[in-house]
Amino acid sequence: MVEIADIEPIAASASKAQTNCAQSIYVETYGCQMNVSDSELVTSIVKDAGYRIVDQPDDADIILINTCAVREHAEERVIGRASQLHGLRNRNPQLTIGILGCMAQHLAQSLPQRAPFVDLIVGPDSYRRLPDILRSTADDTLLDLRLSRAETYVGLDPERRGGTNAWVTAIRGCDKFCTFCVVPFVRGRERSVSAQEIVRQVELIAEKGYKEVTLLGQTVNSYHDGTADFSDLLYMVSAVPGIARVRFTSPYPKDFHECTIEAMAAIPEVCPSLHLPVQSGSDNQLVAMRRGYDLFTYRRLVEKLRRTIPDLALTTDIIVGFCGETKSDFRLTCELMRDIRFDSAFTFKYSERSGTYASKNMSDDVPESVKGERLQEVIQLQEQISYEINQRRIGVTEKVLVEGPSKRQDGETRNMFGRSLQGKTVIFPEFAEPNSLVDVTVHRTTSHTLFGDSNQDQTDSLNIA
Ligand code: 5AD
Repeated sequence: MVEIADIEPIAASASKAQTNCAQSIYVETYGCQMNVSDSELVTSIVKDAGYRIVDQPDDADIILINTCAVREHAEERVIGRASQLHGLRNRNPQLTIGILGCMAQHLAQSLPQRAPFVDLIVGPDSYRRLPDILRSTADDTLLDLRLSRAETYVGLDPERRGGTNAWVTAIRGCDKFCTFCVVPFVRGRERSVSAQEIVRQVELIAEKGYKEVTLLGQTVNSYHDGTADFSDLLYMVSAVPGIARVRFTSPYPKDFHECTIEAMAAIPEVCPSLHLPVQSGSDNQLVAMRRGYDLFTYRRLVEKLRRTIPDLALTTDIIVGFCGETKSDFRLTCELMRDIRFDSAFTFKYSERSGTYASKNMSDDVPESVKGERLQEVIQLQEQISYEINQRRIGVTEKVLVEGPSKRQDGETRNMFGRSLQGKTVIFPEFAEPNSLVDVTVHRTTSHTLFGDSNQDQTDSLNIA
């Protein structure tokens, strides 16, 4: 392995990019929206350095896989996929394969053994150096895993894929150190992008025709750039002309201040949908997870949000089978789900991650089979609740921001799809321009989707949410 500090200065090495200035790069992304956003950043960095971006791995000289380390399953998938892509070297022996992002950071030591064909291992704070790394000619795997307290990629304009929604990173890293979570170890400490830079990016996004912006961060509402806090940021971003909808993900319950609730209620562009990870319905488990809030506080927050923001859709994350979770802890989680009635939930089996407090100090003592049973139970419970909530939308006219043709086709009809204010997928049979807003009256639902008919005579003007 070669640490990046050992790489020859760029000019001194025969550059692959210099020998063929239009080398092509294929970027594949795993994990959360932050990773999608980081891949857009990586794409713009390598494009600026003269590389060509391709949509198929077969066409690439360089394959970069941006990865997730949150659960073991995600890492296994990436290793499997990387091995498969490695097969392309039979045809192209010069093919370079790089692992970027969270898993690169997490498995830095073991990756070269597990995937010896990987040429580059680059952590989430090192993307500005990617062109230098790609130009280097070292024979061994190159590592660049320096975490930074300052890097927020200011001044770079991510290469966005087009569509209706643009992701904008507001805060990088995480300082929470929940006992189960690897994020602070792989993404480093929390740092906010300046509000001025965020507004600059949102103005560009609006100029390009996007109608919707989603502000991103592991704990996005912990945002503070020294002057502006998260509620200030919501006002600033919503004021950018052309932006009709503002969303954000994921807020941390403990940092959800009154002023953010008020901003959500006061700003028409801010959508009434919120992903508020609770993780467990048991206070004992929340303490073991070091979440920093109890259920009384969480429930009170939800009540306040629902009182203040009409028609709020609330979604969450739940982990089952964390260390020490008893049957009665688990029952409390189910009870919480029945009480709060989330619109939907991402549900996970606890997966021990090396480096975390839990992996060092707690016993992963819930048997895999029990984790599996509990997961099935919360999935089924949530499906039922989601279905009941969605059924209540029948007859409601949703304002839908159209994304494009739906994959679902009913006979001859080519359906369109988009998202409601609450962030739900809505499918309807009439053609509508992508990026336009249409009224769709719901007549049927599943637990995940609303189906309706658009009344396009009532189509709203484009910049009203
Ligand atoms: N095991 C299982 N789920 C996890 N999450 C984070 N870390 C782990 C882990 N070690 C889940 C949490 C978080 C979501 C993004 O992933 O629910 O909110």
